Amino acid sequence: MLKAFFFCNSGAEANESAIKLIKKFGNITNQGKESIILAAESSFHGRTLAALSATGQPKYQKGFEPMMKGFKFFEFNNFDSVKKLFQDCENNDQKISGVLVEPIQGEGGVIPGSKIFFKSLRDICDKYNALLILDEVQSGVARTGKMWGYENLGIEPDAFTLAKGLGGGHAIGALLVKEKANIFSPGDHASTFGGNPFACRAALTVLEEINRRNLINNVYLRGEELRAGFEGLSKKFPNIINGKRGLGLIQGLVINSNYADAKEITVKAFDKGLLVVPAGGNVVRIVPPLVISRREINILLDKLNSIFEEF
Ligand SMILES: Cc1ncc(COP(=O)(O)O)c(C=O)c1O
Repeated sequence: MLKAFFFCNSGAEANESAIKLIKKFGNITNQGKESIILAAESSFHGRTLAALSATGQPKYQKGFEPMMKGFKFFEFNNFDSVKKLFQDCENNDQKISGVLVEPIQGEGGVIPGSKIFFKSLRDICDKYNALLILDEVQSGVARTGKMWGYENLGIEPDAFTLAKGLGGGHAIGALLVKEKANIFSPGDHASTFGGNPFACRAALTVLEEINRRNLINNVYLRGEELRAGFEGLSKKFPNIINGKRGLGLIQGLVINSNYADAKEITVKAFDKGLLVVPAGGNVVRIVPPLVISRREINILLDKLNSIFEEF
């Protein structure tokens, strides 16, 4: 059950607060051992210094080194690489205090987490008394066809962060914690505009509208149509499209680098009035509004079709 919330202004700030939370948890539980935070390779957690240090993509860190100490990186969806880090830390008198990870990597190339990986991650965090914190900044608030991205994974985190969809266009971020992670005392963390009534009212309206319009169902249905459309595009353009993946209304088309560059496709899409965004691994990421209609999904697919016909 959720025990406490911290409201802030962005995803990076929400993750910054999650990182501070893990550090405090480490100081309480590590008995003087050096505290380590695990994060995933090809992750993205934001542009502030701690969030950037947790981001497993050197291209975002370049020019701003040195990063904050105390982060180690595992391969996403590869539990052996997580296990090895826990063992290495134990052998070096270090203690892993927490793991910060996205349920579905967005910037990294629209890579859904695997259920078996997250189940093992949950178990190892319990075994070593580490916090499992999910970055739901991109995946949260119905984006994947469930209210929270982690509902696709069959696990419960100790805490999770939100932003993007929570404000429906207005700036807000949040850290939500359950019992084990409910360790901030008054004065530990704050922000001038954190929890301001306007942003919170906007977020409440978003949540009410998601309920009232049954948007989770819309995300699921439109997501299935998008998936079917991508199936068709993949068959029609097998040389250009190498694969497709995603959940609900966060989907990606993996582009064959020998034929095209995802960035080039996003520029062409922009010229046609279609906003898509490149992601790691030469992926075109499609994250339409949760209110998108069936007709608009067809327009989106027609535009992508006409772009691929140009190659
Ligand atoms: C998973 C994830 N975490 C954190 C962030 C950072 O959020 P913000 O840009 O609101 O600081 C992003 C932004 O793309 C994100 O995708």
